[in-house]
Amino acid sequence: MSLSQFVDKLPIPRILKPKGTKDGVPYYEVKMQEFKQSLHKELPKTTVWGFEGNYPGPIIEVNRNEWIKVKWINDLPEKHLLPVDTTVHGAEPDKPRVRTVIHLHGSVVEPESDGYPDAWFTKGYKEVGPYFTRKVYDYPNRQRGTTLWYHAHAIGITRLNVYAGLAGPYIIRDPLENFLRLPRGNYEIPLLIQDRSFNDDGSLFYPTQPQPPVLSVCPSVVPDFFGDTILVNGKVWPYLEVEPRKYRFRIINGSNSRFYRMRLSTGQPFYQIGTDGGFLQRPIITREILLAPAERADVIIDFSEYWGQNILITNDAPSPFPRGNPAYCRTEGRIMQFRVSIPLSNYDFSVIPQRLSTITPLQEGEASLTRNLTLVRETDKYGRAFLLLDGKRWDDPVTIKPRLGNIEIWTLINLANSTHPIHLHLVNFQILDRQPFDVEYYNETGKILTTGPVVLPDLNERGWKDTVRANPGEITRIIMRFGPYTGLYPWHCHILEHEDHEMMRTFEVVY
Ligand code: C2O
Ligand code: CU
Ligand code: CU
Repeated sequence: MSLSQFVDKLPIPRILKPKGTKDGVPYYEVKMQEFKQSLHKELPKTTVWGFEGNYPGPIIEVNRNEWIKVKWINDLPEKHLLPVDTTVHGAEPDKPRVRTVIHLHGSVVEPESDGYPDAWFTKGYKEVGPYFTRKVYDYPNRQRGTTLWYHAHAIGITRLNVYAGLAGPYIIRDPLENFLRLPRGNYEIPLLIQDRSFNDDGSLFYPTQPQPPVLSVCPSVVPDFFGDTILVNGKVWPYLEVEPRKYRFRIINGSNSRFYRMRLSTGQPFYQIGTDGGFLQRPIITREILLAPAERADVIIDFSEYWGQNILITNDAPSPFPRGNPAYCRTEGRIMQFRVSIPLSNYDFSVIPQRLSTITPLQEGEASLTRNLTLVRETDKYGRAFLLLDGKRWDDPVTIKPRLGNIEIWTLINLANSTHPIHLHLVNFQILDRQPFDVEYYNETGKILTTGPVVLPDLNERGWKDTVRANPGEITRIIMRFGPYTGLYPWHCHILEHEDHEMMRTFEVVY
């Protein structure tokens, strides 16, 4: 099916209002529901899942240090919209098909409010998972201002629940930001990028089998998923009319597996001001931004010199990244279009500041320990390839127990053949470096033999991160301080098909 491009306006998610207050703080109720929504002019309406009648979900916006409470309500039908594989951990035949729990990605919250994968619940809390904690979550928002995103996280069906539509933006605004005079109001827009495929009747297509198929399991989880259309804020290949001035875009890669390596078709730069965990020290001028699933980039684009032009955000990231199929330039190679067609309504007083924030590097010397953690490909009992972290499965006993307040270095040793975006709950980390190593030698001896120089993180990775690209044949070192809470949290690959198929482990912060 081929859909015309840039015929639908970019939707801008509304900002959700609290229902009232509870214990003296703003209280939100957010219902997950199934409904029909038009995702493209030429497509019949698509049945999706969303929040409060919106796919993607509305923006939850708070100020830093503003405590809020959120009750995520499962009001979904009993039948899943997509093929559930019951051989995958946590999705066994005795489990309800439609289970949800919502995680606020990048948030620093207590385990009880983190959306642990086994803390799922069904409609009306008729059934709940083994780690179910509470109905109302607490978000203290004591962390740096940044773009987070909330998304479904129930064990074994995260790929399906997110693909059905359960994701949305969450913004923590630091009041100090006002002094920076960044573009704001109508000139500050979140862009949640996701890929999807459609059947002719407009319904979402998600494969029931990998290629080649595994005959003994149907439907079966797939090793990854790449849709043939790109959606931004829930529209396929949208356009946005802009004024010839500066805009701020908070870009979120909310795709299951797809990476995006973005450029502007005019060759003009992005001014990247922030990453997963908030502002960089100073803006980075770059013509290319690479985002793996769950990574975010806060950017300014200056349209002032482009009156009358149509500008594309293009994508040339191969799938799987980095050695898979090239992005076809006419389809996945395009993300959205800007039309610089609205006359300037006012002088553009916004600026691209010289300095944005201070990022104090965590010192390697202060780390109490280094953990070597492998990313390795295996075959499951049905003959399907899948990936493990540290050679262990989700249900294996907890092996990582950082002490509260301690700094650790994790060395991610990627023995597989593609890049895996590794995400830790609770903590923001800094990337120390990456270095190529001899994979065969490691497989034989269990020792790291480096084969090239240490590479520092990209300029736009030199801030606080919660998701890091661990490239094949490289060791990637990250450093973080564990806290401020104790308890059990997940860490995992954010390629959702991998996460659902065992590429997820836990760590427990202990006293
Ligand atoms: Cu965005 Cu545990 O995930
Ligand atoms: Cu997370
Ligand atoms: Cu992965």
